[in-house]
Amino acid sequence: MPLTPEQFKLWQALLKDMAGIHLDEQKSYLLATRLSPLLNAYGFDDLMDLYAQAQDDWNGALPAEIVQVMTTHETNFFRHPPAYEFFADLLRAQFETQTRDRPLQVLSAGCSTGEEPWSLAMTAADVLGERAERLVRIHAWDIAPASLAMAREGVYRDLGKKVDPAFIDRYFQPHEGGRRIRDNLRQLVRFEVRNLLNPGTLPARFDIVFCKNVAIYFDPPTRAAFFEEVLSWMSPQGYLFIGSGESLVGVTRAFRRERHGEVTVYRPEIEPVARTMEYSRERRRSEHSTK
Ligand SMILES: C[S@@+](CC[C@H](N)C(=O)[O-])C[C@H]1O[C@@H](n2cnc3c(N)ncnc32)[C@H](O)[C@@H]1O
Repeated sequence: MPLTPEQFKLWQALLKDMAGIHLDEQKSYLLATRLSPLLNAYGFDDLMDLYAQAQDDWNGALPAEIVQVMTTHETNFFRHPPAYEFFADLLRAQFETQTRDRPLQVLSAGCSTGEEPWSLAMTAADVLGERAERLVRIHAWDIAPASLAMAREGVYRDLGKKVDPAFIDRYFQPHEGGRRIRDNLRQLVRFEVRNLLNPGTLPARFDIVFCKNVAIYFDPPTRAAFFEEVLSWMSPQGYLFIGSGESLVGVTRAFRRERHGEVTVYRPEIEPVARTMEYSRERRRSEHSTK
């Protein structure tokens, strides 16, 4: 049975509260199509039963499964290669020219099935060799548990066309008709299921944040608040990379835009204040249920 406009609004608010996902009215069909496997799996006929179950089991598996099917996980190794070339330049500048001695903390925010953090790890290993394990920490977060499990597993049937052929032998081993990330890269990346809108305690202040093609799903106020929050996760000299089709112009003044060849990066414009606000999932939930 199709959702009434009021029921659709309830779903809209739920998705926004869970993961910042903005779904406009014209996308009602998308909700029904994407959620239909979950209806079957949970033995419901009606989307509102699934809605009630998600509300009852807010910290359980269902909300994560809903987010998994309602978000797009499209990604690639070395998506927009100039970004990785610039990342390599930053590594050389930090560790060869300036001889930095602390590890560089890198966040892949919304890492999907892992191609982005593994591309960062390959780049770091290529530039720094064995020192990469000591000098670079890559934190890879995604809200969708099934995607994150694939990322951690690091097994791929198709590497796409952008992986340097020399990297294929160096960083992948043949595996059941596909390829598997070699153990020599695994120490560099730490995968975690985290909601970017409610990440909990941060493991570090990040020097480099890749947050590409994630905030496109947020509505404009959520996007602005989110990037202002990202500022508080970063070191003052940090670099934020967003998707090549995205821009922070008109979204927030917290960052200034810098152009380096084909790459646009964003640098903290105002001194980041370390994040103090814990915006817990429970609190988001209670706000949601009082709407
Ligand atoms: C299109 S993929 C982008 C992957 C990669 N960053 C890239 O550019 O190739 C978007 C990813 O963001 C994740 N995502 C969306 N909302 C999120 C949230 N609130 N917290 C964490 N991850 C989120 C989705 O699960 C999805 O895997």
